[in-house]
Amino acid sequence: MTAENSAANPALSNLLHEERHFDPPASLAANANVTADAYQQASDDRLAFWEEQARRLSWSQPWDTVLEWDAPFAKWFNGGKLNVAYNCVDRHVEAGHGDQVAIHWEGEPGDTRTITYSDLLAEVSKAANALTELGVETGDRVMIYMPMIPEAAIAMLACARLGAPHSVVFGGFSADSLRNRIDDASAKVMITSDGGYRRGAPSALKPAVDEALEGTGVEKVLVVRRTGQDVPWTEGRDVWWHDVVDSQPAEHTPEFFDAEHPLFILYTSGTTAKPKGILHTTGGYLTQASYTHHAVFDLKPDTDVYWCTADIGWVTGHSYIVYGPLSNRSTQVMYEGTPDTPHKGRFWELIEKYKVSILYTAPTAIRSFMKWGDDLPAKFDLSTLRVLGSVGEPINPEAWMWYREHIGGGNCPVVDTWWQTETGAIMISPLPGVTSTKPGSAQVALPGIAADIVDDQGKPVPDGGGGYLVLTEPWPAMLRGIWGDPERYQDTYWSRFADEGYYFAGDGAKKDNDGDLWLLGRVDDVMNVSGHRISTTEVESALVSHPKVAEAAVVGATDPTTGQGIVAFVILRGADEGGDGEALVKELRNHVAKEIGPIAKPRQILLVPELPKTRSGKIMRRLLRDVAENRSMGDVTTLADPTVMNLISSGITSGKSED
Ligand code: WTA
Repeated sequence: MTAENSAANPALSNLLHEERHFDPPASLAANANVTADAYQQASDDRLAFWEEQARRLSWSQPWDTVLEWDAPFAKWFNGGKLNVAYNCVDRHVEAGHGDQVAIHWEGEPGDTRTITYSDLLAEVSKAANALTELGVETGDRVMIYMPMIPEAAIAMLACARLGAPHSVVFGGFSADSLRNRIDDASAKVMITSDGGYRRGAPSALKPAVDEALEGTGVEKVLVVRRTGQDVPWTEGRDVWWHDVVDSQPAEHTPEFFDAEHPLFILYTSGTTAKPKGILHTTGGYLTQASYTHHAVFDLKPDTDVYWCTADIGWVTGHSYIVYGPLSNRSTQVMYEGTPDTPHKGRFWELIEKYKVSILYTAPTAIRSFMKWGDDLPAKFDLSTLRVLGSVGEPINPEAWMWYREHIGGGNCPVVDTWWQTETGAIMISPLPGVTSTKPGSAQVALPGIAADIVDDQGKPVPDGGGGYLVLTEPWPAMLRGIWGDPERYQDTYWSRFADEGYYFAGDGAKKDNDGDLWLLGRVDDVMNVSGHRISTTEVESALVSHPKVAEAAVVGATDPTTGQGIVAFVILRGADEGGDGEALVKELRNHVAKEIGPIAKPRQILLVPELPKTRSGKIMRRLLRDVAENRSMGDVTTLADPTVMNLISSGITSGKSED
């Protein structure tokens, strides 16, 4: 590898030197939920393997076929019927576990709620009755825009119980983003709250909902009172949760739905400005969410306390707070706020308080904790921990080692789990009782999953080689399509390696000399900022929607904490050139926050006179990344005008803006 390459890709250079590995602790291996046999069993008969996992769930009617594959359209467990909420709640109560705590909820200000499986059953039943009263029928779409409060999970389960697909929108998205998703999903009902607590203060949600709803087909808005702040109210449309849910009967008889009945739509960024509504269905999704949670985290329902720190607005919250853990009868912690409120040791304090044994978090959080200092976790008793998980972006070996040593006390397996909104559940990960883990590597496809790394021509690369990550066989939790856009589904995921029939994940990856997989980040125009997917095009179109902007190009530049940071290069409209740069940059950053949400605010906006383009007019983001990362410029010979990069470097009129 050349020096230029390794500088551009720190993960690659680390990989070359990474020789450490850690065997599973003997006691964990001896009692592991899943052992090495699973790989053999799955490779002998993949479909029989998944059938066995599907039997972990309760079905009212067995399936006729395991898989019907009319590429790229899959039906798993077709003919089978089940109810997701019944599987996550009722059956545990029926089995005598009603008094087991399902959720230890901790509000950011320190208020708490303890919710047993019996409580959860009553709450979900009431919410299902209330939604029915509000007109929700099987197949209707329900939007959920909420903070991390128990009602968010209850609302999802109530929708699942009714067969009404939910679409959860992360509370950090703007009114405009919310409206686009409501429209795309043609949602009928919205569930939200007045607000939630964030960084020590109430943060409103309802005003964004009101703005988003104008002109949409949403008929009813169900509002949880969380903060007590004043909210705008539309009589006849808006109803309080405590008025219409609390008074409902606590019994509700679930209906059983086809395995392929839609369970949820979750929007995620693609390479165009329009987010994609990723569609997941019932039987295959729950099978894989449940099995992977059992296998990857080694969850023991009677003794473990599990905590996934994701937000319910992302797929990790769907699969590893709600559906996977609850289907496995987990006792889990759910936390409303940020890790630094009221102090930077909050996570460790909660682990000590609830005796958490399994922690699942993101590399960006781990890197922040490293920055905050080793002494913070050292003040708390973290000895209950036994498995640590990571998700959302490549974890650098330094962060992996820090996590293992300072959080795991040097004796917890770290499982780096690779998957996507589209895959629905974990695909590539070590198994904590089997795999000898390597810092920074997701390592191997789970039993029953087929992944490979291929070159441009779709040929598998040999050990030691790099290329594109592909999934070579359908899997139970795979997306069933993009809501309302089958063509885009085909184009985005199945056209790159159409001859081979592979799913193209959009990630670059490498095989080491043992054949273990190392993820290297996106190879398309999608950025990964703190584990959140944001498309360059989406931010560009937000910028050019500002009247003063003529053109914009956005790149993800390496960032020591957030993985990537958003850097925008903006050409102003003629008349506005040369104004107050700082004020304008601030205005543009706020404009992006308003259009998409605060998570998409560029870290840096550079006002430039030109953009580097090929002769065909395509912006050369690679060169802009060089500028953004303060590297010497790569090859400029394919530029239509090779002098333009000098112009950009010398003509930058505004720099970084922090917050
Ligand atoms: C990235 C999150 C490296 C990857 C579950 C993927 C990862 C995108 C890992 C999906 C990991 C996720 N190592 N990269 N362990 N996990 N990614 O849809 O680029 O929000 O394509 O799903 O995150 O992000 P999404």
